Amino acid sequence: MKSLTSKVLRHLILWATRHYSNLNHQGQLPGWNASLPFEPGVTTVPYAGRVFQSDEVEAAVASTLDFWLTLGVEGEAFENEFEAFLGVKRTLITNSGSSANLLAISGLTSIKIPAAKRLRSGDEVITCAAGFPTTVAPILQNGLVPVFVDNNPFTGNIDIRGLEEAYSPGKTKAVMVAHALGNPFDLGEILTFCRKYDLWLIEDNCDALGCRYHLPDSHPLRAEGFPSSAYTGTWGDLSTQSFYPPHHLTMGEGGAVNIIRDMRLKVVVESFRDWGRDCWCASGKDNTCAKRFDWKLGELPEGYDHKYIYKHLGYNLKPLDPQAAIGREQLKRMPRFIEARKQNWEKLRRGLKGLERFFDFSLPTHAKSWSENGFEWDESGCRTDCSWFGFMMMVKPEAPFKRRDFAKYLDEKKIGNRMLFGGNLVRQPVFVDLRKENPNAFRVIGDLKGADRLMNEAIFVGVYPGLSDQMIDYMVDSIRKYVKQW
Ligand SMILES: Cc1ncc(COP(=O)(O)O)c(C=O)c1O
Repeated sequence: MKSLTSKVLRHLILWATRHYSNLNHQGQLPGWNASLPFEPGVTTVPYAGRVFQSDEVEAAVASTLDFWLTLGVEGEAFENEFEAFLGVKRTLITNSGSSANLLAISGLTSIKIPAAKRLRSGDEVITCAAGFPTTVAPILQNGLVPVFVDNNPFTGNIDIRGLEEAYSPGKTKAVMVAHALGNPFDLGEILTFCRKYDLWLIEDNCDALGCRYHLPDSHPLRAEGFPSSAYTGTWGDLSTQSFYPPHHLTMGEGGAVNIIRDMRLKVVVESFRDWGRDCWCASGKDNTCAKRFDWKLGELPEGYDHKYIYKHLGYNLKPLDPQAAIGREQLKRMPRFIEARKQNWEKLRRGLKGLERFFDFSLPTHAKSWSENGFEWDESGCRTDCSWFGFMMMVKPEAPFKRRDFAKYLDEKKIGNRMLFGGNLVRQPVFVDLRKENPNAFRVIGDLKGADRLMNEAIFVGVYPGLSDQMIDYMVDSIRKYVKQW
């Protein structure tokens, strides 16, 4: 029981925190607060950033005052709220999206997974060449072999035409790919492929929280029980999130593994996250299994403390409880965040209409073209609804300027911009060295021309909810001025 003095002090501290935040943090949210001045060419237009208010700061301080620190009530509440939001069986919070990816792959190597399905050293995992390195690194870190399929340069996603060639009977065990920059990959085709060969599907949903995928009623996956519409990150076996600041929801550092259907995967992923232990007690709790001193496992003596019995070579990849407290406040903002990202993308696309001579603009998966009336969709009947991470365009090879010149210009104009992360990862020093050391470390399907295009030509600017209309107009004007020279 807290004393009255403690209660009053806590109240005062939180009251002061809220006021402090209201006074000091608004300046970091130029687009969130329309009354703040925007000076074109002087004020930076970030490509992404934290969007928060005093609620998040108060939540962080309140949780810190409790000083439980390690995962506790806030972590548990966040996990419950996040899994309800997304529509998955279970969410396990982690300290980063990279850790989440590591855990998703590691979990599938568990001795608890039936032998035929277990990922074992030398097994292959299909992925795509262009993207973020830690979608792929855990495959190699677990002694597995990534098989790189090309990307579709217009969507940024895996080019499904490479899947059949990538499949190797008896060796391929899983597909692990990201929904690129808030654009769902072709779930209809990839899920069908995974089911045909009984492969795991891990969706790296780190850049795509809030995206939806739609299947037509006539799609065979519908007859297998898949929904007509659901968020990405809910279709495969496992999915992952990042809560690093540029992402749709932030807690500073952070991430999550989503257990989509099969709760047996929860036990193994959680074990790898929590030191590899067999025990599943939450931190600070004992004897959840009601037989803490009654287990007989391995060659340990009967009754050895279950808390210290290890089933896996695990890690400790948990975040802190105050991070989860921040995440809970952010989660409440998700509908608004998702809508803002969509609207900002649309504003940029409309503003840059007519510049197709210079740029190939990104398209949602299954869209054939964009016009002010909407997208024209392909004949598959599948649809995507993008919760964009960025606004991507490729500088056409025949354009009178190169992507590098354009990036430098945007920098001069203080317009934040990024390339598609690692570009074609196979061209990165780490993979070049790896192949020199061991030519069989990974396999490549085809010539990776699409991934090379992304590496050479792609650039993206921001759509994050912190952008104001003025900033978007400024981006559009600046880009238009740049190409006008030609
Ligand atoms: C697709 C993708 N996966 C994984 C990650 C890693 O997330 P984190 O930075 O939280 O480790 C990122 C990072 O931005 C990403 O873009």
